[in-house]
Formats: sequence, structure tokens, C-alpha cells
Amino acid sequence: MVVVSNRLPVDHEVGPDGTQRWRTSPGGLVTALEPVMRAADGAWIGWTGVADKEFEPFENDGISIVPVPLSGEEVEYYYEGFSNDTLWPLYHDVIAPPSFHREWWDSYLVVNRRFAEAAARAAAFGAVVWVHDYQLQLVPRMLRELRPDLVIGFFNHIPFPPYGIYSQLPWRKQILDGLLGADVVGFQRSADAGNFTRAVRRLFGYTTRGAVVEVPGDGGEVRRVVARNFPVSIDVDSFVQLAKRPDIRARAREIREGLGNPETVMLGVDRLDYTKGIAHRLKAFGELLAQHRLSVEDVTLVQVASPSRERVGPYMALRDEIELQVGRLNGDQSTISHTAISYLHQAYPREEMVAFYLAADVMLVTALRDGMNLVAKEYVACRVDNDGVLVLSEFAGSSDELKQALLINPHDIEGLKDAIVTAIEMPPAERRRRMRALRKKVQENTVSDWSASFLDTLTGRATVPAGIPET
Ligand code: G6P
Repeated sequence: MVVVSNRLPVDHEVGPDGTQRWRTSPGGLVTALEPVMRAADGAWIGWTGVADKEFEPFENDGISIVPVPLSGEEVEYYYEGFSNDTLWPLYHDVIAPPSFHREWWDSYLVVNRRFAEAAARAAAFGAVVWVHDYQLQLVPRMLRELRPDLVIGFFNHIPFPPYGIYSQLPWRKQILDGLLGADVVGFQRSADAGNFTRAVRRLFGYTTRGAVVEVPGDGGEVRRVVARNFPVSIDVDSFVQLAKRPDIRARAREIREGLGNPETVMLGVDRLDYTKGIAHRLKAFGELLAQHRLSVEDVTLVQVASPSRERVGPYMALRDEIELQVGRLNGDQSTISHTAISYLHQAYPREEMVAFYLAADVMLVTALRDGMNLVAKEYVACRVDNDGVLVLSEFAGSSDELKQALLINPHDIEGLKDAIVTAIEMPPAERRRRMRALRKKVQENTVSDWSASFLDTLTGRATVPAGIPET
């Protein structure tokens, strides 16, 4: 088994004395795949996050790690450029305008080929190769050409856009053809899978039957590619264990005390990304305070905005915009003893995140578009007390499963304000009823269920449903 993703599941660290070490990053993907990878003598292929540096393959926790090098220019063109300033905004409903540059595309081609070649070298005969996310959409086709013996899966962690948007991409046919090199192409939502199969029909005229795309080969034979949804999840147990730890529960109380023990703590946790709807959330909160529907004496908003893609233009502009908004809102609404928004432009370890979740009465997830949004699932998993209210955007993939949240349209500021007030005023019995239902949902589909169902479909152990429901 070989996993291919842009980032490796380990972080490269250099100590103050110059010593180097690798630390496993705590992502759900690693947790889910670790047992499978160990059992299957697996290899993980990806970039270390460091430019212009070659690293030898090494073992980490029983998994062999194969670093793929990127030059400084490739980081700029392939990663920051084509991946995060062309595909990312395009696939997220053009919330920010995508930039189309031919040099970026050229670099995307070169880097995808390097990943495909590394996977071809690492895979045993007939191995299963699982390629992840939008940075590597050309890898399935390239790999199939190099190694027709392999079983190839691809999973897209972000949305797949409707045809009217997708068709703007100058390289729309090459990308689809790249994906169709896989045996199974997985998406978060059935709507994403539907957008993909529609694009395939429009651009190639291939027949699709439900979740199956019939791809004609050169010799007239037909290859059947499965395209359907597999909603990703989190390692529920590890969050539950952390949420029960006395030191973390004590830390949650300390956080509330630090905030002056307000009646209600609201929380937002996001990478600082324009897809997350942070400005909409702040606007709604600001208006509620200005109209005296809420008071800073009673309600505080903690906004964790972790630094992300800081050299990409729209991310730099977003940071300025959000920080101006936070500064103005606090200036207008805070008092000496009560700060309206506690804004944290930092990344925290998982333990501290769990303490934040436990400290929050109301969790605000107001994404304008999001493949899944695992923060929503993490909040629910941590609420072992069956308390807390989740306000969730219907534009996040998780809203397909988490229907007992207060579902909102973040563009509708009045609707969002009403939902925030409803969340704050919700009677304890209703909070418990909703949270119980949400917890059940999250427990039914953990990240191991997700990877098992994808891999079972890929290796033919699971049957393919006749159709994908239209949404
Ligand atoms: C999203 C993407 C991932 C990506 C992550 C962090 O979740 O789906 O592929 O790794 O964001 O972004 P970064 O650019 O820092 O890898």
C-alpha cells in the first residue's frame, strides 16, 4: 500500500542546537491509515514542507517515508500558485478570483510527474496506491501509464465545483483525464461526485451509470471508474479520550476564567482562509452587540485563526481585512473589563484545542464553502457532556451529516444573527437532545470507517451503489 499526498504525515524540526528530527503530525489521515500501512508494509510519499532540500527515505513508526523534494520556484509555482491560487479558489466557488498562469501549470505538471514516478518506484507489483487531494490530480493517469498493474484510488478532500465554474479552467480536460486514471475517485459530498461526473459527460461525452464512469481505452475496451462520495471524518476516540482528561478539563475552566467567566463563550476555529466566512461571523456578532441584542458583559467570542499560506496574495489581504475588522469591533464594543473578541493568530496543539472546545458554549462554523470541515466534528466529538450548540454552515460538507446543528446560510447576516441568539438562548434539554443526535452521527462514521469504506470499494470488497442521489 502506498499513500501519496502533498504533505507528509511528519514535520521536520530543527532544534536550537541544529539537530534534526521528525515529529508525526496529529492529522486524522495518519491515525486512520497507520494500522493499514503498518500491516501492509506501506510507504507514504510526500513533500516535507521544506524547499530546496533533499531528504533520504526513512522509517517512522513502522511506515516508510519517502520525501519528494520541491525547489523554491516549485513551491511558488506548483504549491502557492497553481494549487493554492488557481485550484483552491476555483474549487471553492470562486470566492476569491482564481489566477491562471501558464508557468504555474507547467510546474504543476512537472511536480505531479515527480510524485507519480516516486510512487511507481515505491509500489510492489499489484499494490494499492491511494493519492490525496487537489495538489496531485494528474498523478492517477501518470501512474497508470507507468504502472498498469497498480490499483489506484484518488480522494479529493475539497469540493468539486459545478461545471459553470469548473469549465473556466484552461486545463479542465487534462485535470479530468488525470483523475480518470484512478479506479475510484472519491469526494466528500454526493453533490461533488455529481459535479465531477457531469463535467466528464460534458467534456468527454463518456457514459456514466450512477457512480460508474465508462472510460474507453485505446483498443476499444472500457474501463469502469467509480466516482462517489466518502465523507471524511476524525479519530473520534482520541478526541473523546482527551476530552475526559482531568488536566484538559481543568484547562477549559481556566480558559473561561481567563475570559472573565462570561455567561456564554462562543468559539471559531479556522485556518485563516477566505473560504471560512470569518468576516461574516464577525459582522453578525458586531451587529448583535451594536444593536444591544447581546452584551460584552455576557458574551465573548474566541476566534482562533491559524496562520496559513502566508505568501499567497489573497491570504495576505484577508489577514489585513480580518485584523482591521477585529480591531474596529473591539475598539467600538469592548469595555476595560470585557473584550468582545479574543483573536488568536496562532496554531495550538490538539490538547489545547480540546480545552477550547470544552470551554465553548457555542461553536460557530460559518464557511462559505468547505469540503467537509472537521472542526465541526471535533467539537461534537469532544462534548462528552452532551452540551454545547453547533452553528453550522450548509456550505460545509459536514452539514450533510450534522443535521441537528443549527444550519445557517452565512451570507444571510440576519439569519446568522438569529441563529447565534437562538444558540445562546437554547434551553438545556434541547441542547442535550441535539448534541446526543450529533454525537451519534459522528460516532457512526469515524476516520477509520471512512478509509475502510474507500479501500473496500477500491479493492472490490464493497459493492458500488447503483446511483448517486442528485442534490
Ligand atoms: C486543506 C487541504 C489539505 C491541506 C490543508 C492545509 O485541508 O485539503 O490538502 O494540506 O488544507 O493546507 P496546506 O496548504 O498548509 O497544506
